[in-house]
Amino acid sequence: METIVSGMRPTGRLHLGHLHGALKNWLRLQEQYQCYFFVADWHALTTDYAAPQGIQQSTIEMVMDWLSIGLDPAKAVLFRQSRVKEHAELHLLYSMITPVPWLERNPTYKEQIKEIVDKDLSTYGFLGYPVLQAADITIYKANKVPVGVDQAPHVELTREIVRRFNQIYRPIFPEPEVLLTETQKMPGLDGRKMSKSYGNAVFLSDTPKEIDQKLSRMMTDPARVRRNDPGEPEKCPAFQLHKVYCTPQEIDYVSQGCRSAGIGCLDCKKIMIKHVIDDLAPFREKRAYYQDKPGEVEAVLATGNQTAQKAAAATMDEVRGTLGL
Ligand code: TRP
Ligand code: SF4
Repeated sequence: METIVSGMRPTGRLHLGHLHGALKNWLRLQEQYQCYFFVADWHALTTDYAAPQGIQQSTIEMVMDWLSIGLDPAKAVLFRQSRVKEHAELHLLYSMITPVPWLERNPTYKEQIKEIVDKDLSTYGFLGYPVLQAADITIYKANKVPVGVDQAPHVELTREIVRRFNQIYRPIFPEPEVLLTETQKMPGLDGRKMSKSYGNAVFLSDTPKEIDQKLSRMMTDPARVRRNDPGEPEKCPAFQLHKVYCTPQEIDYVSQGCRSAGIGCLDCKKIMIKHVIDDLAPFREKRAYYQDKPGEVEAVLATGNQTAQKAAAATMDEVRGTLGL
């Protein structure tokens, strides 16, 4: 069976963007591959080194969401990066053979340096972010790495580092392939990309009432100022959710009603909101179960940490042997 590795930084409660981005994909993959899914808590420190206090809580909340959406510790290894120290050791060895210019020309690096102005990105750790990621991936000898387009350059770098390692020492690592996650577009309440930091997110753990209130206020086609103004669904952020959640009949009905001004925006959104709320019902049930049992989440992670550590230790034995360390 082929091996898959992917990680998520501990951001706390997950939202619909995560669901239709990574999570749905992970659920499918856990059925077909040996999957290692982990909380990338060391990676969180590369941009937020001064605020480590929230990491523990965010980790538990995120893994609670993982379990509640159906990630299954009997199928996938769920663990926490910082509990498997071997990642750090392999990262160190990779850092010896990784040319600095490879890191400096990484598109994600250049973009973040330009765009993120409220954080200190001038650190060694931030530049080396993809080297740590290369260690995360290859320590399990992953064949495939499911990530969004923004992360694809990191996996490309992983391949380059692996090629270099295999060539300098001995070919012990497979070159992992990107498994590009096909994401359904999931705009936030204000039409921008859904993100916790924009305050425009619908969280998986929101109550039906919160979901209803948030989505009822969601941005629509700005052309529909008054009830009688016709609109164009494709210009309406809320309609992106209709496309994900509604039946073809409902989508037709809504599109026509929008273009002819036959339906009001609130009525239109109500049709979609019901689906969003219903779709998350099984999630809420499981989330309520775990809510009062953080110990159970800790136990799942403890088991996963152990399984991951065993696999990582075996790889590191091989690596140390190869280097004569
Ligand atoms: N860099 C990824 C992100 O920000 C998280 C991550 C860390 C990761 N290590 C990984 C993803 C290894 C895939 C494989 O989303
Ligand atoms: Fe969007 Fe529906 Fe309003 Fe059209 S009627 S703008 S699709 S919410």
